[in-house]
Amino acid sequence: MKLNEIREEARKKLAAMHARSERDLAALKTHLFGKSGVLTGLMKSLKDLPQDERPKAGKEINDVRVELAALCDKKEKELHRLAIEEALNAEQIDLSIDKPCRTVGARHPLNTVKNRLIDYFIGNGYVVYDSPEIETDYYNFQALNVPPDHPARDMQDTFFINDGILLRTQTSAGQIRLMEKFKPPIKMICPGRVFRNDDDSTHSPVFHQMEGLVVDKNVTLCDLKGTLESFAKFIFGEQPTIRFRPSYFPFTEPSVEVDVSCFKCGGKGCRVCKNTGWIEILGAGMVNRKVLENCGIDPDEYHGFAFGMGLDRITMIECAINDIKLLWENDVRFLRQFK
Ligand code: PHE
Repeated sequence: MKLNEIREEARKKLAAMHARSERDLAALKTHLFGKSGVLTGLMKSLKDLPQDERPKAGKEINDVRVELAALCDKKEKELHRLAIEEALNAEQIDLSIDKPCRTVGARHPLNTVKNRLIDYFIGNGYVVYDSPEIETDYYNFQALNVPPDHPARDMQDTFFINDGILLRTQTSAGQIRLMEKFKPPIKMICPGRVFRNDDDSTHSPVFHQMEGLVVDKNVTLCDLKGTLESFAKFIFGEQPTIRFRPSYFPFTEPSVEVDVSCFKCGGKGCRVCKNTGWIEILGAGMVNRKVLENCGIDPDEYHGFAFGMGLDRITMIECAINDIKLLWENDVRFLRQFK
């Protein structure tokens, strides 16, 4: 083969190579420079030439060899770069593809109801007070006019941590803590978790209450009734019936309980309302003189009312939930319904 042909053929082959021509390049190199390669063959055949032609012919062959070797090197680098480019292109992610997006979370129904109530009371001039969940016997009971061994302690099955320390059974403890710090006029709500050893479809060992306390001059039972009636209208609308029932709490005198007609049976009687047609949502009353005295407030000058509502109960009525445990199970199928 003539030197020129070898060179032209090699150039053509190199020019035709693409990203996946690595093998072709290796084959071309062997074809040109290998032991039995064409250029090697030409070099070997120099010895057949007359002595005086050899240097010129040798130089020509060598020039082509150097030139083609450089071209092959260049091609090798180019192929390497092309291969990387091709791989990167193949791995490209198309961000414009329409994939189902992540689901957005939602507030827990209990928090929705709690926030609505807080908004309502803030709008009516109340401040929000935060009180500890781990309480002393004094704040949870004694200062609320429930001395040790008082039979009223049986109303609330208590989790004791040790002697004198317990998980608060009622947010009423917040009344005492607040009245020790602030003097009348007082208008506060205290929402939070409370704990009792109770367990059935309407009772959970952990539940939520929201305490309310108003202390000022000339506060009467009428103020309490009006406050609770307008609150009930705000949260339940005009539809369900509300009733006030005389009751007993050691820290209020007189005391009442407020019931709402059952959301499940509409008042006919069912499992949820224990066949009474009513669901109790809160306890309330006029603050007992003893409680005011315990907090250094003169009961002849100031009067007050207090109420404590069950947030879980109110949520159950609002959202027609028939088992309090659903509020705690965190089953997304349940929670999704409240988006
Ligand atoms: N703390 C009472 C309970 O948990 C409710 C209540 C609060 C009653 C305030 C009267 C006044 O049952």
